[in-house]
Amino acid sequence: MANHALVSIVRTPFVALMCAAALVGAGCSDDEDGDKIKIGFIVKQPEETWFRAEWKYAQQAADENGFELMKVGAIDAVEVQKQIDALAVNGAKGFVICTPDQSLGPKIVKLAKKYDMKFMSVDDQLMGKDGKFMTEVPHLGISAKKIGRQVGQALYAEMQKRKWPVADTAVCALTYKDLDTAVERTEGAIEALIKAGFPEAQIHRAQQKEQSTDSAYKATSNLLTNQSQVKHWLLCGMNDLAVRGGVRALSTLGPANVIGIGINGTDVQGELVKDNAFFGSMLLQPKKHGYDTTMMVYKWISQGEKPAMDTRTGAILIHRGNYEEKLKEQGFWQ
Ligand code: GLA
Repeated sequence: MANHALVSIVRTPFVALMCAAALVGAGCSDDEDGDKIKIGFIVKQPEETWFRAEWKYAQQAADENGFELMKVGAIDAVEVQKQIDALAVNGAKGFVICTPDQSLGPKIVKLAKKYDMKFMSVDDQLMGKDGKFMTEVPHLGISAKKIGRQVGQALYAEMQKRKWPVADTAVCALTYKDLDTAVERTEGAIEALIKAGFPEAQIHRAQQKEQSTDSAYKATSNLLTNQSQVKHWLLCGMNDLAVRGGVRALSTLGPANVIGIGINGTDVQGELVKDNAFFGSMLLQPKKHGYDTTMMVYKWISQGEKPAMDTRTGAILIHRGNYEEKLKEQGFWQ
């Protein structure tokens, strides 16, 4: 059995059981375990619902096809290196990665070459030294600009439905400048709002320092200190975690005066049951991000079939009226 010291790798319950059996001498030999193809799934925020959803579907792919999945968290550059090294030591033949830092692209490619591992990126595309996307690495991510525009259109439509005067309405766009897909999403939302006729001068970008709810809360609170005249707010951000922070910061205005729309959909079930300013979210397709990417790497290893170089996924708007049905359709009702 491979290296048991690799504590941050969460093995499948079945394999964990096999290993436990081996430890008490009940017959889990190196050979039995060694026959299975092993694939890693590395994510930047292992505690987040989105990444847990990807893991869940990646695990489904592994269970259905008889390979072993190693789920790994890597929150910074040091951990990325450590975990890829560990995957190699444990016999993994490839991995899927959502990197904590896009600029680690060349380093990840180098490590994969060193260990002869096949890999692809998911969610956050790798960047080269020149700051351009590494299009030579297969990638699956969302159509970020388009989904951002959908957010902007939905915010505008809901504002009109509520007959809010544009004059005393403003937009708070929670931005995160260090991640390309985040920038695309919020700029897409802003672009759609302007196109629909919302005055650009009333659109404010609040800069998150980190990709967390807490950081979004702080950014929104800072913005509000100079905007006491605004009666109604339209709120958007890179994902549900960001919008959740904004919703909390704007809660003093009362839920009826704020329309917040997130992205992911996986983190809003708990919000949409409450009477708060969360109007809805753009529900992504975590199954494609988890199951399909893992299968692509598996087929690459087992059959030599290289993944498509660039796959983009879409989203649909979920809100209080349809979220149960839509989350169930995605297998994501908790
Ligand atoms: C980024 C975000 C996640 C999720 C994915 C979707 O990685 O951090 O919350 O939105 O993109 O691809």
